Amino acid sequence: MPEAIADPVRPAASRAASTGNQQFLLTPGPLTTSLGVKQAMLKDWGSRDPAFIALNADIRHRLVTIAAASGGAAASGGNDFVCVPVQGSGTFAIEATLGTLVPPDGKLLVLVNGAYGERMMKIMQRLGRRATALTVAEDKTHDLGEVQSTLQGDPAITHVAAVHCETTSGILNPIEPIADQVHAEGRALIVDAMSSFGALPLDAAALSCAAVVASSNKCLEGAPGMGYAIVRQDVLAGCEGNSPSLALDLFDQWRAMEGNGQWRFTPPTHVMAAFHQALIEHEAEGGVPGRYRRYRQNCDILIEGMQKLGFRPLLPAASQAPVIVTFHMPADPRFDFKSFYDRLAALGYVIYPGKLTVAPSFRIGCIGQVMPEDMQNAVATIASVLEDMGVQDCGPASTGERA
Ligand SMILES: Cc1ncc(COP(=O)(O)O)c(C=O)c1O
Repeated sequence: MPEAIADPVRPAASRAASTGNQQFLLTPGPLTTSLGVKQAMLKDWGSRDPAFIALNADIRHRLVTIAAASGGAAASGGNDFVCVPVQGSGTFAIEATLGTLVPPDGKLLVLVNGAYGERMMKIMQRLGRRATALTVAEDKTHDLGEVQSTLQGDPAITHVAAVHCETTSGILNPIEPIADQVHAEGRALIVDAMSSFGALPLDAAALSCAAVVASSNKCLEGAPGMGYAIVRQDVLAGCEGNSPSLALDLFDQWRAMEGNGQWRFTPPTHVMAAFHQALIEHEAEGGVPGRYRRYRQNCDILIEGMQKLGFRPLLPAASQAPVIVTFHMPADPRFDFKSFYDRLAALGYVIYPGKLTVAPSFRIGCIGQVMPEDMQNAVATIASVLEDMGVQDCGPASTGERA
């Protein structure tokens, strides 16, 4: 039997009060938000009102600043980069960016090592745009030599799309060397930073990428419902007429917003108000380095605790992003994921099924309004649930090895 760490610990009353939640979402999103973020949604906003226009402008400015971790050109307030928000989830922003930036005669190379890279390929097919995938296994990162030879071998490729943290597995893709390679080959890079933006360092200007795409949810800890692209202004200026979509045309959205500060169509006002509060809380935590520190601590507590219980993480430490951790499903027949999930949820911790194609797995997230003490309590609760279920062996079916 795995070593029991402690008695099950429900989220402490003080923590439940500070988030307004009885449950913590240890998932890739939607995530646990603070009470302040939830309370910010209690007010109604007029979408054409100067107060909302100012809130919108401040959010866009803050996002461009976050995108320039080193305080480079993008931090100057938007001379090089602009933030274009779109209604909807992260996928809407990805689709808007691909449809606007890759012209009808362009071609996209997608670096695929999980479901979100695959999704970009699907989007390109739906848009009727040319795309090719360079695919590696879900627990591997791309060989840069192969990226280079693919680009050199296909001059039709105009753009490259890469996922920063591929949330399918939790793997951290080496975005800096990828960006260098793409830049050296004279192509434009689009980064899906959905599950990393605001917590993992990323400097859009230093990477010289064309666009970084993320959402209000995930590491910035807002409510879901709005996505955005932070786009190099000179690139976007050349994209008029590219998009086959009216609602998801980033160029039109940008031009309209620059013109009168307003959204073209009904904005997600409450989501924006919550996001503004979330960005203030992000700054108060110390911005990207502060948030990274807490997520790193959460991730270390999780992995160490789960390994003590006998679970085997999919990824080696070097490629594990402190965002979400994939664990192999235990071989022990007494381990039933549904029952494990239901018991944990009843005790206040919501985890996530696996998304791997290669091995049975489940995932536990480290992001959102989750503190290290919550993570310690979650691991203690997992230990007691396993004991309750009579699970004695948390090693994976594939190797039977212990972590
Ligand atoms: C890396 C990545 N890209 C894209 C998405 C899609 O975002 P959404 O589910 O908000 O549409 C996700 C969602 O988890 C993600 O993790």
